[in-house]
Amino acid sequence: MSEILKSVEDHYEVRGLLDAILDALRATGKDTNALQPIDLAPVDEFHVRGREATIELAALARLPPNLHVLDVGCGLGGSARYLASAHGCQMTGVDLTHEYIEVATALAKLVGLSAAVTFQQGSALDLPFNDNSFDVAWTEHAQMNIEDKIRFYGEIARVLKPKGTFVFHDVFQGPSGAPHFPVPWAEQTSISFLATPERVRQILDEAGFQIIHWIDATPPAITWFDGAIERLRTTGPLPLGLHLLMGKTSQLKFTNQMQNLKENRVVMIQAVVRKT
Ligand SMILES: C[S@@+](CC[C@H](N)C(=O)[O-])C[C@H]1O[C@@H](n2cnc3c(N)ncnc32)[C@H](O)[C@@H]1O
Repeated sequence: MSEILKSVEDHYEVRGLLDAILDALRATGKDTNALQPIDLAPVDEFHVRGREATIELAALARLPPNLHVLDVGCGLGGSARYLASAHGCQMTGVDLTHEYIEVATALAKLVGLSAAVTFQQGSALDLPFNDNSFDVAWTEHAQMNIEDKIRFYGEIARVLKPKGTFVFHDVFQGPSGAPHFPVPWAEQTSISFLATPERVRQILDEAGFQIIHWIDATPPAITWFDGAIERLRTTGPLPLGLHLLMGKTSQLKFTNQMQNLKENRVVMIQAVVRKT
């Protein structure tokens, strides 16, 4: 594994994450032997707007049942479990971080979804799948750690079947300069690689994708952060949340990301594109 990939995995690794999640679930009064996928959403949707964004993106993509979907940089697998349980998709998740794959697999078992979702460790830059394998590729908030965007989108194009759909909700460089660090995907600049939406559109075009939907999702992201800050002010932090994934600088990462959105240093894009 390259030095950069190792640093990215180190950034996300928590050690003891599954136990921390189970303890937090119990602290909120959940029976960990009778969990539903939605019970995990406060921690297993590691992206702006959480479950809300995943529901919206799936609706935008209009996914019929029984599709084989690859989630690239699947994290703890929240989106994969949602797509399996709510849209009848057969899911494969791939992620660099070994601990996340272990936890994603354990959580799928806990909610009775092991037959519909499988997770495996691998790099998005060298996807461990044959050409033309998947009906749909999906990604949320993984490519910010990847410098070689041509390879990232090229690998997705390679593993998609002809006419396959690629769906994403992602963080790109805004017009107002570099983001404030730390951010949820990086403590500092060495593992953060943001591209502008214009550059990504050009790469997608060159990789053979046709744009179906391209939506600026920055305004709802800002509204969501404002609501989350207000809730934190009134109720305080809940036991189960993304702070379990973001370590000591969790609060600063959260407020920086909100500031980055408000200052147009980062922008959010939701998109559905089709392999031609
Ligand atoms: C912010 S988390 C998002 C996880 C998940 N997509 C979600 O929305 O909950 C970023 C994820 O990207 C993964 N990642 C970063 N670089 C990667 C790479 N080169 N290959 C595969 N996964 C990668 C990380 O391990 C991490 O799980």
